[in-house]
Amino acid sequence: MKQKILVTREVFDETIDFLKSRFEVESNQADRLYARDELIAKLQGKDGVQTQSSDRIDAEVLDRCPTIKAVCNTAVGYNNIDIDACTRHGVVVTNTPGVLTDSVADYSMGLIIATCRRMTEGEAYLRTGEWKGTFLKQMLGQDVHGATLGIFGFGRIGQAIARRARGFDMKIRYHSRNRAAADAERESGAVYTGKEALLHTADVVLLILPFTPDTQHFIGAKELALMKPTAVLVNMARGGIVDDAALIEALTKKTIWAAGLDVYENEPKFNPGFLALNNVVLSPHIASASTPTRKAMAMTAAKNLAAALSGQTPPNLLNPDYRKHPKA
Ligand code: GLV
Repeated sequence: MKQKILVTREVFDETIDFLKSRFEVESNQADRLYARDELIAKLQGKDGVQTQSSDRIDAEVLDRCPTIKAVCNTAVGYNNIDIDACTRHGVVVTNTPGVLTDSVADYSMGLIIATCRRMTEGEAYLRTGEWKGTFLKQMLGQDVHGATLGIFGFGRIGQAIARRARGFDMKIRYHSRNRAAADAERESGAVYTGKEALLHTADVVLLILPFTPDTQHFIGAKELALMKPTAVLVNMARGGIVDDAALIEALTKKTIWAAGLDVYENEPKFNPGFLALNNVVLSPHIASASTPTRKAMAMTAAKNLAAALSGQTPPNLLNPDYRKHPKA
């Protein structure tokens, strides 16, 4: 008898075909976010689940869904999954690193430029029909070339952003929990810098670090106060790493110049204070959303699920210690 799995949100047909060749699949191609109890009901009797970052898998879900053996997230980030609880329940957890690195790095450059050069504000202005022609002091922005880019988080994506930023003649500095290997620094031209010094000196502060209890409000009022009044903050990581209320205050008082955001605290809700500001570029968490990349992410998660449920070590295993808690 085939094992049973749930795919919580819409994926590509090729992913469903791959999964159906191995499993009995229940999928949510209508793409409606399941409420918590509905998700728990759908998981009854399932062996595994392919999740997306909008699905929350925590200890209570695992307690109430004892047949689940694998949770395969279709994202590189996994703050929506309680990894420790999964480990304690003997449940395999995987993510999709690597396949989205370049798309997210491309989009990061876009958000840096859009924010520094006021691109969305310019379009909104043009759409009002009020544009009377170009003049010297119209919509002045900050230059990207020659600016100092301060990257917080220097994993695969941070390094890919640094390589691109070099092409824009940016000076690159970074800070991360662990200093990168010398060849990664050499290849990207990035100089390791302390947190405070980076906040003081960067013209563009870019966040691409994991969201953990330690990085909750990593950027709050104190950190924003260290930034230059001409500085731009770009958050490509996760909402919650930035204290959004403190950011809105800094943008309102113009103690920093602007922000570009792809992520928000409490997504998909977000602080309506952002909507009143024209010095913020708002993007709906789509940095990895190119067709080839999203297809690769969906297929990577499906392959992780296939490996996990056939007793192999999945390519992107996050919690090898799950083996210490074998399922009954
Ligand atoms: C996107 O935010 C991801 O974590 O893949």
